[in-house]
Formats: sequence, structure tokens, C-alpha cells
Amino acid sequence: MSKYYNIDDLRLLAKRRVPQAVFDYADGAAEDELTKKNNRNAYRKWKLIPDALIDVADVDTETEVLGTKMPYPFALGPTAISYLFHHSGEPAVARAASKRNFPSTLSSIASTNIEDYADASDGSVWYQMYVWKNREISYDFIKRCKEKKYKAIMLTVDVPVGGKRERDLRSGMTVPPRLTLASIIDAAFHPTWWWNFIFGPKIKFANVKERFTGKKKNLSNIMTYMNQQFDPSVTWEEAKEIASMWGGPFAIKGVMNSADAERAIEIGASAIVISNHGGRQLDSAAAPIDVLPGIAKSVDKRVEILIDGGIRRGSDIIKAIALGADACLIGRPWVYGLAAKGEEGVGIAIDVLASEVKRNLQLLGCQSIRDLKREHIALDRELLDEIE
Ligand code: FNR
Ligand code: LAC
Repeated sequence: MSKYYNIDDLRLLAKRRVPQAVFDYADGAAEDELTKKNNRNAYRKWKLIPDALIDVADVDTETEVLGTKMPYPFALGPTAISYLFHHSGEPAVARAASKRNFPSTLSSIASTNIEDYADASDGSVWYQMYVWKNREISYDFIKRCKEKKYKAIMLTVDVPVGGKRERDLRSGMTVPPRLTLASIIDAAFHPTWWWNFIFGPKIKFANVKERFTGKKKNLSNIMTYMNQQFDPSVTWEEAKEIASMWGGPFAIKGVMNSADAERAIEIGASAIVISNHGGRQLDSAAAPIDVLPGIAKSVDKRVEILIDGGIRRGSDIIKAIALGADACLIGRPWVYGLAAKGEEGVGIAIDVLASEVKRNLQLLGCQSIRDLKREHIALDRELLDEIE
């Protein structure tokens, strides 16, 4: 039995296991990190209201989004360069997810390529896309995903430029990490990580490796790399072209208002991901859970709604579903698991959240995830109004 009872336990172990700069790259966010803190706090404002005496001996937690069946209404969202966090890298993530029949998403800037990731998974995989200035590279991703039978593509639209992540600026975080005086001192505290870093697989942006034509030093800082390589002039017209080039389940990740949800529908997206990139981009951004009810109302089931940012408990997933989401993505929770314990840690993160979803459904008196309704959830303010 694991002694890691919740996502915070995994976070604390991750902090001990990897160099501070690596931990801060995952844990940190932009500027004052207000968006990141608010993503979490926003969930706390919502209170759950259970129904009693319903037979909840068996509960149905299954759902389907992006043409993919899943055992619980959450999947692993895309995050960059997993080899940074553990020497087993993205293949360990693919295995942990697919063994449990959970979909997982490969990032464009992963340290494993599209082909190897699909091969490591026994289940459904999704691909997250950024648009490179070099369209040949960008559009080739789509072809490669078709060949390897990816189930869905999500286009991330909240990174026209990299966010200002001050923890990374202070730590001088690079990919791959450099051996500096500070890193040598760090090695004394994280010898296993450094041993694997030096003697294990080399860390690289695997999807573009062969085609990368810039100077090698451009690869050093992730934000510098993104600002140099990604095209900030991408618009809805191109998103439409990408959606039709792909032709399969397609999501726009980073939608934060109803007008953009409407545009996503117009260009033929089958889903939106309500997201502020876990607070890593625009600081002081609204929390996804706060904009969800309005977007769900205006979308009125014409497109699937996924949501991420600040989900650390099964009850957060339940709140999102009760407010109109079809499913959730998790980012840092599985990255903490990976940094803490490789494949096992990713598995613990999934299992913890899954068991919390199931238990809380039973405690709410719901026999199925589809029984979750707006009546099961209220804001503090609404509860007070009822008293008056
Ligand atoms: C991310 N995220 C991200 N998103 C994306 O579309 N492409 C990417 O390459 C990355 N990379 C990335 C790296 C790391 C280390 C983190 C933590 C996050 C954002 C991610 O998909 C997701 O939107 C947030 O992580 C969700 O918030 P939580 O679950 O981390 O609170
Ligand atoms: C990040 C980018 C790479 O959030 O999406 O770090």
C-alpha cells in the first residue's frame, strides 16, 4: 500500500527528489503566481450538497470525450519534457495511464517523439500541438499522429508568447540542465537524479530534433526556445485549417470565454479545454472553474467541454462535472507523481484521484457521473441567500 494519500504528498516527495530548479519549473507559474493560487482557491468556494438514501453500491464513473472511452472523467494533460523529472520519461507516463485505460496527452515539446510515445502506450493517446514558425514541422505532426493512430489533437492557444516565470529566471533553468557551480552543489542533495541525468537518456525536444536548424544554444532556455520557434501570429483561420487537415476529434486548449467557445464551434472543433495553462501564462487570469458555468450555458452541449487548472482532489473533478464540464485534465498532479516515483508515482496520482471521485460520488448519492447536477453544488453566496 502506498503511503501517498493525496497529491500534496506526492508534491512534497517530488520536491525532495529533483533539483530545486526542476521542481520550480513544474511547480512555478507566471509573475506573482496569482492565477495559479486562484485556480485552487476558486474550487474551494463551491460547496457540495448530497442526496441521502440512494443505493450507491455500484457507481458508474465511465465517460467518453474526444472519441475516447475513459474509466473516469479525467485524463492526463500535456506537459513538456518528462525526462527532466524522471529518467523513465514520457514512456513511463504512457504506461501508467494506459495500464489503467486512461488517455494521456503528449506535448509538442515532449522529450519523447510521437512514434515512441504511441508505441509505449497500450491505450488511447492524444497529441497537443503548438504551431512552429516552420509550418513544415508543424503540419508534419498531424501526419505523424495519423500514422500512429492518435485519437485526438488539441491545439494550445494560450501561448502566443511564453509567460514570465520568475522562478525559472532566477534559477537559470535550462534544457538540458547545465553543470554549473550551483548544480554541482545541488548534486550533493539529489545524487540519484544527477546520476541518471549524466548516465541516462539525453534530454531533448524529441519531436523536432532532426529538423531543428537553429544554433544549439537556442535550445537552452525553454521560454527563449518557445519565443523563437512558435508563431505568435496564428489566428482562428489557421486553427480551422489544422482542424480540417486532422479531420478527427479536435480540441482548442486555452478557451476562457463564450465568444471563443463559439469560434471553436465555428471552425469545427469537437471540444474546448477551458484552461489558463495552470497559471503559467497570463497572471491574474480568471479561474477556469469560475468561467465554466457561463461557457457551459452558452455552448449548450454543442461542443465537449474539458477543463484544467488547480485540480488536486476528486471533489474538484466532481465540481467541474456538476458545473457542466464533460471531463477534466490534470497537469502538475501527474508531474509530481513522475518526479516523486516515476511510473509508480504517475499511477499513484491517477489512483488517488480516481478513488476520490468514486468515493465522493457515493457520498453525494450519485449512481453515475451523469447524475451529477447543478443542484449538487452551490457557491457560499447562494447558500447565504437561501438563509435570508
Ligand atoms: C504544462 N502545460 C502545458 N500545456 C500545453 O498545452 N503544452 C505543454 O507543453 C505544456 N507544458 C507544461 C509543462 C509543465 C511542467 C506544466 C506543469 C504544465 C499546461 C498543462 O497542460 C495544464 O494546462 C496545466 O498544468 C493545468 O493545471 P494544473 O493541473 O497543473 O494545475
Ligand atoms: C509550459 C509550456 C512549455 O507550460 O507549455 O512550460
